[in-house]
Order: sequence, then structure tokens, then C-alpha cells
Amino acid sequence: MNTSMKIAGALLASLIPLAVWAQGDAADIRHGRYLVQTSGCNDCHTPGYMQKDGQVPETEWLTGDAMGWQGPWGTTYPANLRNLFQEMEEQAWLVRARQPMRPPMPAPSLRAMSDDDLRAIYRYVHSLGAKGRPAPAYVPPGGQVATPYLDFTPKNLPTQVAR
Ligand code: HEC
Repeated sequence: MNTSMKIAGALLASLIPLAVWAQGDAADIRHGRYLVQTSGCNDCHTPGYMQKDGQVPETEWLTGDAMGWQGPWGTTYPANLRNLFQEMEEQAWLVRARQPMRPPMPAPSLRAMSDDDLRAIYRYVHSLGAKGRPAPAYVPPGGQVATPYLDFTPKNLPTQVAR
């Protein structure tokens, strides 16, 4: 083997771990996209997603929504996950994902996800980059709500019979 072939070989060998790493990352991102799409995150965190039966460009996904969800918990707004994941490190996400969140956020489902799945979600959303504005702040029960909102107040409940 001449010297230039040796150098080329060494160069190639040094690139292989990089290629494997990049492939792993791309697979994570694909898996994260799949999880986001199948776990319903877009239903709430992407404006108009449910109304348009999912026909919203991916560039708009997870930018948060100013439509409130009102119920006995107060009024909550689906957070802008695109911006959140730019501000947060992956390790902090694993902690945040398991902390309490108010309804209708399916916090128990997120809590039940494996570290690997949560990492994949993080890598996918992070790869989309920041976009949009922060969602409005949470309003406690009885507080003044300035935005449009959906009303999830339970109605027509059976009357409690005193025993
Ligand atoms: C049914 C609607 C709904 C669905 C589905 C949903 N979310 Fe949420 N999410 C919300 C709402 C509303 C909040 C705000 C909760 C609060 O104020 O405590 C929220 C909050 C969050 C937060 C906290 C943001 C912060 O500022 O700390 C994260 C992270 C999050 N959602 C991620 C997800 C992911 C990932 C999925 C999919 C696996 C998902 N959500 C699915 C409605 C939803």
C-alpha cells in the first residue's frame, strides 16, 4: 500500500464512527417524529391540527396554541414545544417530562414513556428549531380569561344523594 492510500484509509476509518453516530441520530429523529404523530401531541400543541384533520405543514407543528382549555383546573394552554426544547437541555427534559402537568395534558402517558422514547421526542422537536410565540399563561379557576377557550366544565352530573 502506498502512503496516500494509507492516509486515505486512515481518513475513511476515522469517518466511520461519525457516520454511525449520524445514522443513530437520524433514526432517533425519525422515531421521535413517529411518537409525536402517534401520541397526539399535535392535537393540542399545533394550532388547527384537530380541526384540519392533521393537514397542517410540519413547519407549524408544536408551536403552541392560544386556545385555552377550561375546566375545574382553571384555563391551560398547550405550550410552545418548539421554543421550549431550544431553551432546555436533553437531561432537563427527562426530568420535566415526569413532573406534574395540568389537564388536559396527558401527563400520565408522558411519564410512562421510556428514557429512549423521551430522548427521541426531544431530538425530533429540537431538530425542527424554534418557531412562534409563547402560549398564554395559565389562568387559575375563576380568573379573567382574555383568549378564546374550550369549556370542559362537567355538566349534567348525577345529583349526590345524601345517605
Ligand atoms: C389534550 C391536549 C394535549 C395533548 C394531547 C398533549 N398536550 Fe402537552 N400540554 C397540554 C396543555 C393544556 C399543557 C399546559 C399544562 C399546564 O399548564 O400545566 C401542556 C403542557 C405540556 C408540557 C409542559 C410545558 C412546559 O412549559 O413545561 C409539555 C412538555 C408537553 N405538554 C408535551 C407534550 C407532548 C410531548 C405530547 C405528546 C406526547 C403532549 N404534550 C400532548 C395539552 C396537551
